Amino acid sequence: MHSLTEFNLRTIRESDLETLTKIADDLSISEMLTDNFPFPYTESDARSFYELVHDSNNPLWFVITDATDAMIGDICVRPKKGSNYSHVGVLGYWLSKSARRHGVMCGAIERVVEIAFTTYGYLRVEADVFEHNHASMKVLEKAGFQHEGILLKGAQKNGVLRDLHLFARVSVLRP
Ligand SMILES: CC(C)(COP(=O)(O)OP(=O)(O)OC[C@H]1O[C@@H](n2cnc3c(N)ncnc32)[C@H](O)[C@@H]1OP(=O)(O)O)[C@@H](O)C(=O)NCCC(=O)NCCS
Repeated sequence: MHSLTEFNLRTIRESDLETLTKIADDLSISEMLTDNFPFPYTESDARSFYELVHDSNNPLWFVITDATDAMIGDICVRPKKGSNYSHVGVLGYWLSKSARRHGVMCGAIERVVEIAFTTYGYLRVEADVFEHNHASMKVLEKAGFQHEGILLKGAQKNGVLRDLHLFARVSVLRP
């Protein structure tokens, strides 16, 4: 790893939208996420995202900021949909290109999962990763996630069927 960069997690503010529009307009992010994350990424997309985060009332939806409090990424644990999954969180994240390879996302994932387990009662946090996203798989492994399996043809991206790699971390707080 290169030198560890200082980062913080906080809720999104309206004043982040200009930076968000700039850093999110990046194919290297959108090609690794679901189609909910558009490319090109416009001011109106940033505004919709801001409203989505607000309306979600999810205390585990954070922007990642640098030492100057500027937004450099996003991370979220959401409750998995369905009545049998209230203890399961689904992790999603992305980081601006210029902030990568300094240990930020690994640190952010560790911090958010810790809060999810200790403060919000989650017992399992899972993430699924497109087969072509080797960087994300490495980050998850480094953050203590286990590779649980491969969902063959688990998703489509840009019209191409993709396998999904399923990763999870399970809380030790309750068996
Ligand atoms: C994946 C992503 C979040 C990684 O963030 P990051 O802050 O650069 O990751 P870290 O610096 O914490 O990396 C931790 C480890 O992961 C691995 N890693 C990270 N990026 C890598 C890359 N591009 N290639 C190979 N290994 C990589 C390394 O092992 C690294 O440890 P090291 O630096 O000691 O070798 C970032 O590249 C990103 O936002 N990509 C686009 C969006 C995305 O893929 N989101 C996840 C969807 S599932």
